[in-house]
Amino acid sequence: MTATRYPLGMLLSTLTLCLMLVDAKCPVHFGRARAEDDGGILQAEPRRMLLEFDAAAVNKLDIDAVKADLKALFLDSKDSWPADFGNYGPLMIRMAWHCAGTYRQSDGRGGCDGGRQRFDPERSWADNVNLDKARGLLWPIKQKYGNALTWGDLIILAGDAAIESMGGPILGFCAGRVDDADGTASLPLGPSLDQEMVAPCSVNGECEAPLGASTMSLIYVNPEGPMAVPDPELSAPQIREVFGRMSMNDSETVALIGGGHAFGKVHGACPTGPGPSPAQQPWNPWPGTCGEGPMKGKGNNTFTSGFEGPWTTNPIRWDNEYFQNLLKYDWEVHVGPGGHHQWRPVNKDASDPDPVANIMMLTTDVALLKDPIYLELVKLFAANQTALDIAFSHAWYKLVTRDMGPYSRCLGDQVPPPQPFQAPLPPPPATKPDFKAVEKAITKALRTASSALPADMVGGKPYYGALFATLAWQCASNFRQTDYTGGCNGARIRFSPQKDWPQNVAMDSVLAVLEPIKASFPGLTYADLIVQAGSTALTNAKARKLKFCSGRSDASPDETPFPFQPPRVFSNKLVQLKDNAQVMGLTSREMVALQARLRSPSQQRRLGYSGSWTDNPSLLTNEYFKVLLNNDWVNVTSAAGQLEMKAVGTEGVYMMPTDLAVKWDPVFATIAQEFATDANAFLEAFAAGWNKLMIADRFKGPTGNECK
Ligand code: HEM
Ligand SMILES: *[C@@H]1O[C@H](CO)[C@@H](O)[C@H](O)[C@H]1NC(C)=O
Ligand SMILES: *[C@@H]1O[C@H](CO)[C@@H](O)[C@H](O)[C@H]1NC(C)=O
Ligand SMILES: *[C@@H]1O[C@H](CO)[C@@H](O)[C@H](O)[C@H]1NC(C)=O
Ligand SMILES: *[C@@H]1O[C@H](CO)[C@@H](O)[C@H](O)[C@H]1NC(C)=O
Repeated sequence: MTATRYPLGMLLSTLTLCLMLVDAKCPVHFGRARAEDDGGILQAEPRRMLLEFDAAAVNKLDIDAVKADLKALFLDSKDSWPADFGNYGPLMIRMAWHCAGTYRQSDGRGGCDGGRQRFDPERSWADNVNLDKARGLLWPIKQKYGNALTWGDLIILAGDAAIESMGGPILGFCAGRVDDADGTASLPLGPSLDQEMVAPCSVNGECEAPLGASTMSLIYVNPEGPMAVPDPELSAPQIREVFGRMSMNDSETVALIGGGHAFGKVHGACPTGPGPSPAQQPWNPWPGTCGEGPMKGKGNNTFTSGFEGPWTTNPIRWDNEYFQNLLKYDWEVHVGPGGHHQWRPVNKDASDPDPVANIMMLTTDVALLKDPIYLELVKLFAANQTALDIAFSHAWYKLVTRDMGPYSRCLGDQVPPPQPFQAPLPPPPATKPDFKAVEKAITKALRTASSALPADMVGGKPYYGALFATLAWQCASNFRQTDYTGGCNGARIRFSPQKDWPQNVAMDSVLAVLEPIKASFPGLTYADLIVQAGSTALTNAKARKLKFCSGRSDASPDETPFPFQPPRVFSNKLVQLKDNAQVMGLTSREMVALQARLRSPSQQRRLGYSGSWTDNPSLLTNEYFKVLLNNDWVNVTSAAGQLEMKAVGTEGVYMMPTDLAVKWDPVFATIAQEFATDANAFLEAFAAGWNKLMIADRFKGPTGNECK
């Protein structure tokens, strides 16, 4: 990351530059020392809530009343921040979209759930200039509704109400965003040391996935074009790439950009920028540098992005004029008053209404004409308002709701029917099997040879316990607390793509071992069977206090595959463990304890390792930690080419790089030492982690759970 390659278009000030580059010499610094110096700074602990979440209050909230208050507020221009065109609506839409648009499919991080736009790093992002004013305008409404209206919900509802108030289509509202107490969960979005570890960006402006944006501290792409080069042909593929990282397809992308830019204007009254960010000057962030006196930095003197002008002749009315303007005029690039490249219409004619003199486009807008698929969509939306209404309302609802997970987490009386992006499941079967009898059948299957898959051998006898536990773990451990997706509910491990993930090799055969049980209990779902088999096996192996809660359902084999992601793999295994724990919502103690789960020697070999740390996987004990801590380990390469660690002076005692990461990290090692000396502490933490993960996807509202 070097300053010279940073897009000049977004250099708002040297101070902001410092924030973006996370240079050690910068005066403002997120996090502590440099990542390399302290061997990892990721916190494995889950997100912290601001307040005890009050689902009943949220459910009782009169959403229409809030919207009415919002709509009145939008038309009540304040001298402290005069509204463009007498309407705060467009500003609110931009705020909502920037709050939600941080979402990224790769690890589920970002999104407006948590309301972290209020905190650094997000609040000081270059793309969030002046959104402090928008949130400030909302405070009276936040105060009025208190706990029933979280910041996350309020920010999105303000966007919804604004779209509606100007005539736009809204599908509905899924309430239930839970406010975070601070911005920690956004540190991996950057710029921060956590982000350098989890999602580094080597050339700022060309950042790659898992980062959501092409440019640090922007929402999606540089509006001026890639690396601030105003080339719409280069911009189009970047838009497609980056919107894809947020799981938006072409029609959603075009509808969102043109639907959003039906409203409002860009602000760049002068070339000198908005002034210091909230991180730099919390007492008066972004005071502006243009104009004089009480109107300095406000109204027509506003500097937000450094571009200037509206997209349409009526920026406070919902319509498809944006698309018509794109097609109607030829667009010419020039440098606007803010010093950045923007585009103006060249072939205006006498019949054009007056305000056309002012309209403009960004390079990213003109880009929609330069890609054949985008162009077809521009033509469609320019010709057919209904098609735009449908595409925009659905894409907007997905944009603002995508990070909230399944339908069952939504509250309120304005929730639309389940949408495809919520990966809806059918209801569980009406009649439940006798789970005690199922447990008995599983217990028998633990030690009965099956033709479906050779068992591990323990004391010369077949044993499937470690394989059953592995199946349940593989089924459940792609759960992400970041966007509440994944987990074993639905038993999607049966289908592609999940079944084909390398770490799921042979899991279909383990399931086949259980198939006779599935067949003999009508009403038993695969999802319940997989979880119960894992928990039964562990209990049989002397785990304590494992709870089984039934009621899962099975996804249909015909469903459109949902883009669930496997837990991310990193070359640095310590980062992997911490990142996985954070994403799964496990504490450090739980993650370390779960590392000692039963591992099948035969499965380890199928994964390419030489074997396991024990040849007796039928007991869940703290022996794992003793073996880990009491041996010296050397790197070796297995016959299948996997890097693994061998205990010095032993024959056949192996661990995996993730195991050794537990030993290398001082926080994890401290926990491992406690577990090595206190078997009860280990079993307690194991049960806490296992029970948490097995029901993590059983949502009943934002914080409730069907099993509690
Ligand atoms: C390629 C993607 C996009 C880029 C590069 C982009 C860029 C911008 C820029 C530079 C501004 C000017 C900010 C200012 O100076 O005040 C702006 C304003 C705005 N954007 Fe976008 N935008 C994109 C997509 C969207 C989407 C998807 C939406 C909503 C669905 C949206 C809604 C808005 C609105 C409503 C404003 C006007 C704000 C105001 O009037 O204060 N934009 N956008
Ligand atoms: C994009 O996704 C939406 C919602 O699933 C769908 O209706 C639309 O047809 C898709 N568009 C394209 C171009 O695939
Ligand atoms: C901005 O300038 C326009 C045209 O010069 C004027 O009509 C409008 O009232 C000004 N707005 C503010 C908030 O000063
Ligand atoms: C406009 O789009 C809507 C929704 O896709 C469709 O039902 C309608 O037939 C279209 N109208 C025309 C004239 O093509
Ligand atoms: C052993 O492998 C790890 C990767 O997990 C690596 O970080 C470490 O440097 C290797 N140690 C040696 C001595 O090669």
